[in-house]
Parts: sequence; C-alpha cells; structure tokens
Amino acid sequence: MNSPSRSGVFQAGADERMEAYGESISFDRRLYRHDIQGSIAHAEMLASVGLLSEAEARLISDTLREIEKELDSDSLPIRFELEDIHMHVEQALIDRIGDTGRKLHTARSRNDQVSTDIRMWIRDALDDIDQKLKALQLAFLNRCDQDLDVILPAYTHLQRAQPVLAAHYWLAYVEKFARDRERIADCLKRVNSSSLGVAAVAGTTLPINRELTAQKLRFDEVTRNSLDTSSDRDFMMETAFVLSVVASHLSGWAEEWILWSTVEFNFIKLPETFCTGSSIMPQKVNPDALELTRGKSARVMGNLQTLMLLVKNLPMAYNRDLQEDKPPLFDSFDTIFAMLDIATPIVAGSELQRDSISSRLEEGYLDATTLMEWMIKKGMPQRRAHHLVGAMVGEAMNRKVALKDLPLETFQSHAPEMDATIYDCLGTENAVAAFVSYGSTAPTQVAAQIKDWKAKLTS
Ligand code: ARG
Repeated sequence: MNSPSRSGVFQAGADERMEAYGESISFDRRLYRHDIQGSIAHAEMLASVGLLSEAEARLISDTLREIEKELDSDSLPIRFELEDIHMHVEQALIDRIGDTGRKLHTARSRNDQVSTDIRMWIRDALDDIDQKLKALQLAFLNRCDQDLDVILPAYTHLQRAQPVLAAHYWLAYVEKFARDRERIADCLKRVNSSSLGVAAVAGTTLPINRELTAQKLRFDEVTRNSLDTSSDRDFMMETAFVLSVVASHLSGWAEEWILWSTVEFNFIKLPETFCTGSSIMPQKVNPDALELTRGKSARVMGNLQTLMLLVKNLPMAYNRDLQEDKPPLFDSFDTIFAMLDIATPIVAGSELQRDSISSRLEEGYLDATTLMEWMIKKGMPQRRAHHLVGAMVGEAMNRKVALKDLPLETFQSHAPEMDATIYDCLGTENAVAAFVSYGSTAPTQVAAQIKDWKAKLTS
C-alpha cells in the first residue's frame, strides 16, 4: 500500500529503500498515548466549531481508544510505508471507520502533531525525572542524621583543604539536585505550550479553536507564531541541556565515590549488590555501577550536541531533519532514568568507613585555616597570618606532628601574641566547630539546613 501522505500528485509509488530510510515508527511508537490523546482533543475541538458532528467526534474518540488498547498490547502491525506513529494511528482509524476517520486530519499537519506529542511526552517524562531526583535528594538527606557525627576532609584540587561534616557533603548534593529540579520547572514553561493548530506552517483557513485543544491537553498557553512553532525545537535542546546537567552531577558524584571506595581513600563501602567481581583477581570488588554512571553521562551530553547540530542550519520551518530529534531525546531520558534508579539505592545503602576516616583526620592540616582566622580575630592582617601559619605548618611537617601537637612556645616563636586559647581551634573537631558563617559547615548551620530540607522534601 502507498503511504497516505502521497497525494494524487504522485504517479510513482515510493521506493522500498526510501520507506525503510524514512521510517520513524521504530522509535516514535512510544509517542502513541500522547498522539491519541492529542487526536481526541483535536476531534472534540473540530466538533465544537462545527467541522465534525458530535457523533463523528465520538466515533473517532471511541475508535482511537480501541486503537490505543491494541498498541498497549502490541497487536497493531507495523508497516514502514506508514512511516510514523501518527500515520499508523490515523490509518488504523480509517481502516475501521472509513470517511469519518478521513476527517480527523482536518486543520492539522503532522508538523504540529509531532511537536504537540513530543511536548506532552517530555512534560510527563520530566515529571518522572523530577520525582526520581526528589527520591535521590531524600536518600542523601536521610543519610544526614545517621552520619551526623562524621567529619570528612573537604578537598580543593583534590588536596585536603578544610574539615566538614559528612552531612555538609550530603546537603551539597541535595542542593545540586534541587537546582536540577528548578531547571526542570523552568524548562517546562517553554515545553508546556501548545503547537496544535499551527498546522503545516501558516496556520489554517478553517475556524479552529486552539485555546480549546490547549486546555483539553493541559497546556498553559498556545504558541503565537505558526512559522516559529513549526520549526521550534528549543524546548528539546533545553530539555537535553537540563538532563545533561543532571548527568554531570551524577557523574561527578560517581567519580567521587569511586575514589572514596578505593583502598587509598577507604571512606566508603558501596553496597555489594551494586558491585561486580573480576574474572581473574579474586579480591576485586569493582564499582561498576558508578563507572557506568560516569560513562553513561557522556551519552547524555552527546545527545545535547546532536540536537544542537541538528537544528542549527535549518531554514524555517519544518524540515524532515527534525525527525532525527527523537532518538537522542529518548536516549537522554532513558539513560537518566537508569542512572537515577541506580544512584538512589547506592546512596542509601553505602556505609561510611568511620574508623578509617577518623584515623587519618588529623593528617593534611585541615585546621590551618581555622588557626589563621584565630590570628585574624586577634587583629593580625590576613596576609601576615597566612604567611605565619604556613611557616607553623612547615615546622609541624618537619616534626611529623599535627598543629595541635606543637608546644605553645613554638607558636609564640612565630607570633609572640599567641596564647593557650589557640588550642581551642586546633584539631579537626575544634576546627569544624569554629565555623560560623551562613552556608558554612558550622554544625548549627548544617543542623538548620537539615531541618529546612526535611520540611521542603517531606511536606
Ligand atoms: N515522522 C515525522 C517526524 O518525526 C513526522 C512529521 C512529518 N512531516 C512531514 N511534513 N513530512 O518528524
């Protein structure tokens, strides 16, 4: 059978190779629920403006619901000559109800149809991602109470820098994923605009009601310019970007915990159920789930590039190139779904290696900044205090001791104004407790933020 999109203007049928080359049903089938939902809204709108009778609209809607069930159970045959999901559904309708089915495509083109479907699909998929991000935030937040007594070194340049509460680390991830969720909400503002009714490119001469279909499909608004809408894939690029940032956050976390699970760090024990063994080295417990998370993030970022490049040279408006937008988009969602489904149980099920962490907590002079700031509080200019503490650390290094193990005379030999109260800020535990600024690792700050996040995420 010839494709329904080939009008009477054609004298030749399509070459089979063209049909195989041009099909998108193999990947756009997953739009069917949204396609049918859009068609039902369109039919109801056509009836409301008198382009269909109420009875015709009802017959179309009822039949579309039956077709949906067939698609649910995978019993609708796939035919490459029907190219995409839109024509499969329409043809199935025509096969069942003849001329009434032939009226559905009134005042509509696949150009506005595919854009509408994809917007609805993204809307649902982003909602799912948002829920999964929330579950991941909760997994980090729930760790805070259980790890409240643990201090970890914070690193800059992967060198030991300053001490922080483990909970401060967990809340840092909660913040990153909170921004991801904000980006989703913001991106949804552009996604959630109805393309339906711009038809092919210039709109239609028929008296349609775009507001009505938008309302029925829960869009917040209707797009304003038919030319723009027919070509617009900004909302897809933005979605792919939002997902790329999620991927970047997950990849950074994975990298950190891969390091933390090494013998060298020995900060964390990953759940064995998410680790793999080696076929030759019996002692190995490998963090493959995290390595795959780091690796899969590359695909998500690659998909963003694909979409950007796909769109950048297209003249207005719809061009068939745009059919290539769906594989990278779907792949980004599938990959992020899989990454999040793995991340949450790993975060919840990993154990901090408390003894190993605390046994080396006095290494690396995590209290050096605190000591410098103690001197600033005594009135010393920062640059001088910075220089002097550097010299004190150098002396402690030579003696292979921590700062708190240096006698007061040594401190005083560098700065005579020092007194015994310096020992109150030395040592990692004292150092953590000395932080006070908003957003710092000060235990009171961290406690307040845990409380805030609990209220936000569990209300
Ligand atoms: N399969 C096409 C796609 O996914 C549907 C739109 C086709 N429109 C057209 N005028 N040929 O983009």
